[in-house]
Amino acid sequence: MEAGLPAAVTICEVGPRDGFQIEPTFIPTERKIEIVDALSRTGVRQIQATSFVHPKAIPQLSDAEEVMARIERRTGVRYSALVPNEKGASRAIAAEVDCVDVVVSVSESHCLSNTNMTPERAMERAGSVASLCREAGVAASIGFATALGCPFEGIPSYERVERMVGQAVEEFGYVRVTLADTVGMANPTLVRSTMSRLADRFPGVLFGLHLHNTRAMGLANVLAGLEAGITWFDSSVAGLGGCPYAPGASGNVATEDVVNMLEEMGVATGIDMTRLLGVATQVREIVGHADSGVLNAGPSSKLLGPFRGPQVTSGAQDQGSSSQV
Ligand code: COA
Ligand code: ZN
Repeated sequence: MEAGLPAAVTICEVGPRDGFQIEPTFIPTERKIEIVDALSRTGVRQIQATSFVHPKAIPQLSDAEEVMARIERRTGVRYSALVPNEKGASRAIAAEVDCVDVVVSVSESHCLSNTNMTPERAMERAGSVASLCREAGVAASIGFATALGCPFEGIPSYERVERMVGQAVEEFGYVRVTLADTVGMANPTLVRSTMSRLADRFPGVLFGLHLHNTRAMGLANVLAGLEAGITWFDSSVAGLGGCPYAPGASGNVATEDVVNMLEEMGVATGIDMTRLLGVATQVREIVGHADSGVLNAGPSSKLLGPFRGPQVTSGAQDQGSSSQV
C-alpha cells in the first residue's frame, strides 16, 4: 500500500438498483434474487438491493418488496434501498432494509425530472425520511445526485454542494453522505478537491463516492477519491447502471475493475475476485451486455506466470507474435 492511501475500503454494490433500473426489459424477480444472493457470497458487505420509488417512474424495480422478502439475509452483509421520499422510506422500513438511502439531486432540473420536486422540497423530505428512520431504529444515509455534474446544468458550485451537505448533516443528522457523479462528468481534480474540502468541513461524516464511468474517468476518479481519504465507493457488477432521468447516463464503474485496481494497489476490499467474476458473468448472461475491463481480460493477478524469455525458434519468428503484444 502506498503511503497516504487507506489500508481498506468499503465497496457498496449498487448493480441490483442502479443497474437493473435502466435495463430496457424487466429482469424477472427470480433472477434479481439470484444475483443479490450471489453477490452476498463474494465478500461484499454492502448491497443496495433495490429502490422503493413510484412503480411508474421505475417499472423495472416494481418488485422491490418481493426482492427484499426473498433474498437470503447473509450475516455480515447490509442490505439497503434507495428512496426518494417518506412513502419510499416507509415501504423500505416495512421491508426490513438495514439502511434507507435517500436521494436528492443537487441541480434543480435533474431533481425535477427525476423526482418531480425542487431540491429545496427534496431536502425537506430527506429531513422527514431521517426522522422516520430514527423512530424506526433504521440507519439512513443521503446521496446527492448530480453533485459532481448535471447533464442540464453542468458542474454545481462547491458552495451549493456544501450548503446541501451541511443541511443534511447539521439539521437532519445524517452521518453517511454519498456524492454521485450521475452522468460521469467529474474529473479527478474536481473529485479530489471537492471531497477533501467536504471531509475537512464535516469531520465525523463518512463520505462515499458514487461514480459513473460514462467518459472513462471512473477509475481515475476512484483514485482521486482515495487520495482525498474517501473509503466508501459505490460500484456496479459488470459495469451496469444509469439514470433514466439523466440523458447520456451509462454504467457505474464496474465493481470488478475497482476491486482489481484497489487490490493491486494494496488497498483491501474483502471481495473474492473469482466469485465476483462468476456473478459478473451471470449478470452479463441475463442482461446481454457488460462494461468491464476485468470481465473481458481477466484480473491482473491471474495473468502472472513464470517469464520464460523470448520464444523465438527458427522459422517461427512471425507466428504468434501478434498475440504477444
Ligand atoms: N413508492 C410508491 N408510490 C409512491 C411513492 C413511492 N416512493 N411516492 C409517491 N407514491 C405515490 C403516492 O402515494 C401517490 O399515489 P396516489 O396517487 O395513489 O395517491 C402518487 O405516487 C403521487 O404522489 P406524489 O408525491 O405526487 O409523487 P409524484 O407523482 O410527484 O412522483 C416520485 C414523485 C418521487 C414518487 C417519483 O418521481 C419517483 O418515484 N421518482 C424516482 C425516480 C428514480 O428512481 N430515479 C432513479 C434513481 S436516482
Ligand atoms: Zn448512479
